[in-house]
Amino acid sequence: MPTDVRLQLSGVTKQFGPAVVLDHVDLQVRAGQVHGLIGQNGAGKSTLVKTLAGLYPDHGGGTRIDGRPAALRNPRQSRSEGIAVIHQEFSLVSEMTVAENLLLGREPGLWGYNRRAIRKKAEALVEEVGIEIGESVEASVSGLSPAIRQRIEIVKALAEDAKVLIMDEPTARLSEAERLSLFRVVRQLADRGVGMVFISHFLDEVREVTDWLTVMRNGRVVASEPTKSLTVGRMAALMLGEEFQQVIDHERAVGQADDTRPVVLEADSVSVGDRLRGVSIALRAGEIVAVAGLVGSGRTRLCRVLTGVEQPTGGRLRVRGSEVRFSGPRGAISRGIALIPEDRKYQGLSLSSPLTENLCLMALQRRRGPARRRAPVEHSAGRGFRDLTRRHRRARGDTRWRKPAEGRARQGPRLRAGGAGHRPADGGRRHRDEGPDPSPAA
Ligand SMILES: Nc1ncnc2c1ncn2[C@@H]1O[C@H](COP(=O)(O)OP(=O)(O)OP(=O)(O)O)[C@@H](O)[C@H]1O
Ligand SMILES: [Mg+2]
Repeated sequence: MPTDVRLQLSGVTKQFGPAVVLDHVDLQVRAGQVHGLIGQNGAGKSTLVKTLAGLYPDHGGGTRIDGRPAALRNPRQSRSEGIAVIHQEFSLVSEMTVAENLLLGREPGLWGYNRRAIRKKAEALVEEVGIEIGESVEASVSGLSPAIRQRIEIVKALAEDAKVLIMDEPTARLSEAERLSLFRVVRQLADRGVGMVFISHFLDEVREVTDWLTVMRNGRVVASEPTKSLTVGRMAALMLGEEFQQVIDHERAVGQADDTRPVVLEADSVSVGDRLRGVSIALRAGEIVAVAGLVGSGRTRLCRVLTGVEQPTGGRLRVRGSEVRFSGPRGAISRGIALIPEDRKYQGLSLSSPLTENLCLMALQRRRGPARRRAPVEHSAGRGFRDLTRRHRRARGDTRWRKPAEGRARQGPRLRAGGAGHRPADGGRRHRDEGPDPSPAA
């Protein structure tokens, strides 16, 4: 075995009752390498991680660290062998400070509860490890962001002399900037010789950060290759397997669309670099079109293109038959296309603004002219909300609302900023005409 192999698994098995969840898993993580681990939900990734963390003493097979056999009978033993795991739900003690967390389990008796000594020791430790936490060691962990908590865990792992550091879905709760900063830390640690294992559902991100990739399916390793040699499509195919491909091919013809209805939105062979390649879909009035695929296959990107968030590098978009080019979401909104994003909390809402402002944010963008005043905004948000409720009830055939709503709806959109009498610059009529109509036959 080459000397640069930090972690070596040979024929690792784990069963839950009769169910074989890890089926003779072989894996080699080399020093200086970021090793990605991918697989469908239930493929066995977390079970493998938990086995390495010492949580499943009844597993089979062998583990070696730096060539020496390692025993993984409990978490303490696994840590002392040099394996550190950063689970998706961080395991810091919220009520304690950063320093107390860093030193937890490291001969606390020596310093007692002398805060100054704990602080000094923790600061020395952070310095020695050489990873910035970005927060005072005296801060309480309870108010810290996921990104900072993650750094504390990384520092803690390195302080415990981790030879192998495993991160299970580490980017799930990070912003884009935090994600990139994590990638730099991951690379830095690999360069120092730590064996890095990186588990993620995001295939793009896996391609970006890993050097080597192991794909698991049904508890088995189905491929282990240099990341460069695998395209996202091949990764997906390996994760799904042949049987699934056949099922997909077979079922493609099922579910005939009603082609008498007009096509309201159409993507004709749209591409975004090599992330989205020649995708065509047509959405007819009254239709619900599902876009399915693995994480990283391009579903979100397609939706972003359809709603003007991202601009396609090829292909055409058509709304009710006429070609459109959106330079941003505003263009799509004015054509009556709205997106409820994947992460509503961070991408869809302004959490620091009141409900009223969130409700009429799209209308506010259309407002031209003098400074916005709060009172009209609240007023029109309330009316906008009532109007939506009415439209919804009408669509369900609830006649109580038909009369009062019908007469007034002709005056233009109800959801608008600027109070009564103000008409949006684009007239609003277009919005009403082209907006999603709850009754397609009308
Ligand atoms: N404690 C348990 N008892 C019984 N079965 C379990 C247990 N833990 C996991 N399994 C099963 O083992 C299989 C592998 O699960 P595991 O959590 O390792 O998958 P994973 O690859 O991490 O999936 P995900 O991507 O969803 O995190 C699944 O079928 C799961 O239902
Ligand atoms: Mg998992």
